[in-house]
Amino acid sequence: MCGIVGYIGEKDSTPIILNGLKRLEYRGYDSAGLAVLDNGQIEIRRDAGKLSQLEALVSDTPIHGKIGIGHTRWATHGEPNARNAHPHIGSTGEFVVVHNGIVENFLALREELSAEGTEFKSETDTETIVHLVEKFFASGSSLEDAVRKTLKHLKGAHGIVVMSSREPDKIVAARVGNAGGVVIGLGEGENFVASDLPAILEHTRRAVFLESHQMAVIGRDRVKLSDIAGNPVTLHVQNIAWDPVAAEKGAYRHFMQKEIHEQVRSLTDTLAGRVDFDEGRVMLNDLNLSTEKARKIKKIIITACGTAAHAGMVGKILIERIARVPVEVAIASEFRYAEPLVDEDTVVLAISQSGETADTLAAMEEGRSRGALLWSNVNAIGSQAMRIADGCIAMQVGPEIGVASTKAFTAPLLDLYLLAVYLADLRRVIDPDQRFGLVNDLMGIPALVGTCLDREEAVLGMARRFKNTRHMLYLGRGINMPIAYEGALKLKEISYIHAEGYPAGEMKHGPIALIDKAMPVVALAPDDPWYDKMISQIEQALARGGEVIALATDGDERIPELTEHILWVPATPWLLSPVVTSIPLQLFAYHIASLLGLDVDQPRNLAKSVTVE
Ligand code: M6R
Repeated sequence: MCGIVGYIGEKDSTPIILNGLKRLEYRGYDSAGLAVLDNGQIEIRRDAGKLSQLEALVSDTPIHGKIGIGHTRWATHGEPNARNAHPHIGSTGEFVVVHNGIVENFLALREELSAEGTEFKSETDTETIVHLVEKFFASGSSLEDAVRKTLKHLKGAHGIVVMSSREPDKIVAARVGNAGGVVIGLGEGENFVASDLPAILEHTRRAVFLESHQMAVIGRDRVKLSDIAGNPVTLHVQNIAWDPVAAEKGAYRHFMQKEIHEQVRSLTDTLAGRVDFDEGRVMLNDLNLSTEKARKIKKIIITACGTAAHAGMVGKILIERIARVPVEVAIASEFRYAEPLVDEDTVVLAISQSGETADTLAAMEEGRSRGALLWSNVNAIGSQAMRIADGCIAMQVGPEIGVASTKAFTAPLLDLYLLAVYLADLRRVIDPDQRFGLVNDLMGIPALVGTCLDREEAVLGMARRFKNTRHMLYLGRGINMPIAYEGALKLKEISYIHAEGYPAGEMKHGPIALIDKAMPVVALAPDDPWYDKMISQIEQALARGGEVIALATDGDERIPELTEHILWVPATPWLLSPVVTSIPLQLFAYHIASLLGLDVDQPRNLAKSVTVE
């Protein structure tokens, strides 16, 4: 996950920035850099690899200045080398930018700028930002206005921090969407800016969190906040406790809510360094998979528990449809007692955020003892499931503290999609056009998730309306059937409301008997190949006097005629729709539990890592 740190004051900014970047080190990175204003000149140091490499570089060729910005990077566009590391500098050497997010229209912008004579020094999308700022500044704007104009040209979600030798008394920061936060730390005669609170907490407890579409001009003694349109915004200063756990929670009430909101960023990071949008290719190097090995695979068994198993069910559909490899999903607690049919042409793929779930590890051992190739999709770096696997897809979500998994659910959905495309490519079962199409569909996903998060208020309203219900039925079909299971699991584990996830087509075989006014039905009916079937399920539930909360795609005209309770999601390519449909269901469960005053992050009887059978 990328991290940003900036400083303006009377001290030397270099050690402050390097220390701040170190606080973000646990998130992992592949390159890092910093820029300072040294005697009116911008000086930059950047390097690939760990932060210690940048520290060594700075120690060999020191730079000092009272204003500076730094960045740790996970590559999205362009390989992780020093040239592609942030900060990026413009053609005149007077502007530098660090950035979290993806400039979705960077190819078009790059072409436009190149046609105007701009020379690019890196392969990154971020470099377009600095050239745009430079261009608008040259045409007479202040630094603040140049950044504002630049933002209007960028598609996607961004956290941006800009510094210039032309206006050496300020740093300009902006946030659009949810590609990571921007927080300003207020000091005495000095101020800080970062993507994450831990980076600046040792210096100040007074913090201002930028909302989406806000900008800040940060001076030594003053911070001015405005929206992107230029209207002034009042500073809302929060006093952060020293407790590092509380500090991590930032502006959110619970970790779960924070983690739900982190998904634009975690999904962006999931794509970073693995997807080459220009080549239409996916690379999963840590799977250690040769073309020959990929072609030998006869079957994949996905094994996992709880939420991770629901991700696996979506993965089955993705891998079978895209890579044409048969997939079974085995509940890990059953696997070792099932005499599974496994041989050396089978892959056992374990999904686990903790990487320490006893049942999942036992299933991996069972697979190993029968000669299978072992893969894992794990969040906790260095965990057992990562160590014992032959290949790994590491989730890029950072620590998940809420016991109810949210961002560690949507990341594997994308990981499994990437795996499906990667396998299909290695096994030559898709042509280049299909591959480009599948890869291209990924690009908009973080932004679509951001759109769902922007609708939190509507979900809160729905939660208020249904918080006192005692039972709920979640229905879905096809690729969204596991999302019905997951929605129900989220609700039951944190709100203690009885919720069942069911394949909608099975309703008529029994559960329909349960339906009455006291059993609201959550029906997942996005625009996917099962849409018409779901409409008839909704009609059946209504005919039995049930109340239906439908999840529908923007623009749907049939569903509003059936029910007034609708959770709207933006149109999404159907193979990726579970990533998007998960979001309102996570928010719905969260807000019900929160309205009921429950311990959302540590629900009763549950643990974050289940290390017993
Ligand atoms: O650490 P794991 O992903 O292996 O955990 C598996 C389940 O215990 C976990 O997903 C559980 O269902 C969560 N409480 C879901 O929110």
